[in-house]
Amino acid sequence: MAAGANAREVLERIRTVRQIRQFRPDPVPQEAVNDLLEIARWTGSSRNTQPWHFIVISDKETLRQISRLRPPITWVADAPLAIAIVLDGARPTSEAYDEGRVSERLLIAAQVLGLGGGVAWFGDASHETEAKRILGIPTERTARSMVAIGYPISARDPRPNPARGGRKPLSEIVSYERFGASKR
Ligand SMILES: Cc1cc2nc3c(=O)[nH]c(=O)nc-3n(C[C@H](O)[C@H](O)[C@H](O)COP(=O)(O)O)c2cc1C
Repeated sequence: MAAGANAREVLERIRTVRQIRQFRPDPVPQEAVNDLLEIARWTGSSRNTQPWHFIVISDKETLRQISRLRPPITWVADAPLAIAIVLDGARPTSEAYDEGRVSERLLIAAQVLGLGGGVAWFGDASHETEAKRILGIPTERTARSMVAIGYPISARDPRPNPARGGRKPLSEIVSYERFGASKR
């Protein structure tokens, strides 16, 4: 386990993982894809059910079709690769949690590899249905999102209606012992 100065470095790397939406056109090396999939595979899940299947997508036309599902994910068209997360569809609540865990691991691992990742949410139920059709996913499965991966150009949000950056201060989001109580 990392300790001392190295621990600070690792923590800083994790703290500064951002959503990447702008990528260089260079392909993601297969070795890096294998590393990412291995990290995904070892993610913990509810009762270790491992309720996922991953689709590695580098076909430009497929990425373009997905990017057209809705305006907030048009940037997916210019990603060299994406990993779609398909869930079993058996336990919606715990699978949603597991999906979040595996997504965050992919984002962190991408950054460690010198890449960057961005979550793309397919949208509402009709968008999910369309994404499943594009990707050939059986209807009984759940498919809500993908993580686009590539060499980052910038962490800027290029969309016309960008998400607000930064984070709330700890004083606003942390209590001690009881909700709303500050540290004595
Ligand atoms: C569940 C979920 C869905 C998201 N969907 C999208 C999306 O569809 N399009 C997009 O550009 N970013 C999406 N994001 C990324 C968020 O906008 C991003 O995490 C947030 O703005 C913080 O970005 P930052 O870490 O770069 O500050 C999603 C994130 C999560 C957790």
